[in-house]
Amino acid sequence: MKMIFLGPPGAGKGTQAERICKDYGVIQLSTGDILRANRKIGTELGAKAQKYMDAGELVPDLIIIDMIREELKKPELASGYILDGFPRTVPQAEALDGLLKDMGQKLDVVLVLEVPDEELVQRLSGRRTDRISGKTFHMIYNPPPPDGNFDLYQREDDKEETVRNRLNVYHNQTKPLIEYYSKQNLAEKIEGKGKIDEIYLGIKSVLDKIK
Ligand code: AP5
Repeated sequence: MKMIFLGPPGAGKGTQAERICKDYGVIQLSTGDILRANRKIGTELGAKAQKYMDAGELVPDLIIIDMIREELKKPELASGYILDGFPRTVPQAEALDGLLKDMGQKLDVVLVLEVPDEELVQRLSGRRTDRISGKTFHMIYNPPPPDGNFDLYQREDDKEETVRNRLNVYHNQTKPLIEYYSKQNLAEKIEGKGKIDEIYLGIKSVLDKIK
């Protein structure tokens, strides 16, 4: 299965993608994770992306499209993938259409996770990521197991002011993609508020229909 995960920052894309990968044998391709990994090892791409990410702005389309073009060539993606955090603008979506056409591939579904803004601010301010496994937790809603060995950190762009800017960017630049993919009959809206396991059941009911 080939799918896109669309939703505002903190909607739970990463949290739910982990479950989908386990149950459906697909690979998560998160543009945010790829950019953060590049920053960590100090590549040119990481350096170019840094100022945009720290301000909660989008990295320019051309940089992202070049990056995703290379990623999509990886043979391990043949069994299926979730694009998490890409596309985020109409030009990115148009470029993806072209790349998929060139590769003879088609998307199966675009999952749209819907969560109100105020809840997103709370989720992101409590989010912590484990440096060792890359897993994401929430100090109240999804705490790390007490017996685990974790090295938790808070993302630089999860400060409240930056989160509010990321939300504005989502509403202005990414939300139009819901209409873009509705016109292609690919968008499936998922209630993203509630318990993590219940939201996953909503996702499963969509995926099981197209499996
Ligand atoms: P990116 O890393 O993609 O961030 P994002 O889209 O803002 O998404 P997040 O990772 O913040 O949220 P999520 O939906 O995965 O939520 P999570 O599951 O962690 O992008 C970062 C930056 O990179 C961008 O700002 C931009 O600069 C750049 N970038 C990336 N892609 C780009 C692109 N295509 N074009 C241009 N620039 C790009 O959950 C959040 C928290 O909530 C966690 O703590 C979790 O435990 C908790 N939680 C999850 N579900 C629930 C629930 N149901 N109830 C309560 N808590 C919950």
